[in-house]
Amino acid sequence: TAEQKPPAAGDVLVHAGDTNKGQPIKVSELKPDGQMIKAWPKGEVVKDQNDNNLLVLFRYPEGTLKEPTKMEDTAQGIVVYGGICQHLGCQVNLKDDGSLLCPCHSGSYDPKAGGEVIGGPPPRPLPQLPIEIKDDQIVVKSYYVRPRYGESVSDWQANRA
Ligand code: FES
Repeated sequence: TAEQKPPAAGDVLVHAGDTNKGQPIKVSELKPDGQMIKAWPKGEVVKDQNDNNLLVLFRYPEGTLKEPTKMEDTAQGIVVYGGICQHLGCQVNLKDDGSLLCPCHSGSYDPKAGGEVIGGPPPRPLPQLPIEIKDDQIVVKSYYVRPRYGESVSDWQANRA
């Protein structure tokens, strides 16, 4: 169904958390404090019927994101990733030290540095989702920069095309 389709260019990011659920995330409401905001992509409908579509968004002070973040796919310090662990598909959480921790087998990732694996079993970084800003909203620019959890390279290439 449309609610299960993966994120696609032109989708708007909407809140997935309890506050403002389904409402577009506004850039002007985001503090550059590195807090994690959960989001869904929304095309004609909110694509919230596929757990693998859960996204995590962070805004940092401009100029503080590090390589190998794809800087051209961030905007005003905002970076977005798939929120599902690349190991076996659990949801990642933000820790006090600013890293992301997967509760299942302690995989950890650095959201300031392209989602790189900094501990545990994940085989590859979290997939960064390219975004741009339009009219104070966050819009998907293109499909993930690498395969997301459970996705074959050929499926990823087809979604990138
Ligand atoms: Fe995340 Fe295993 S599912 S570390």
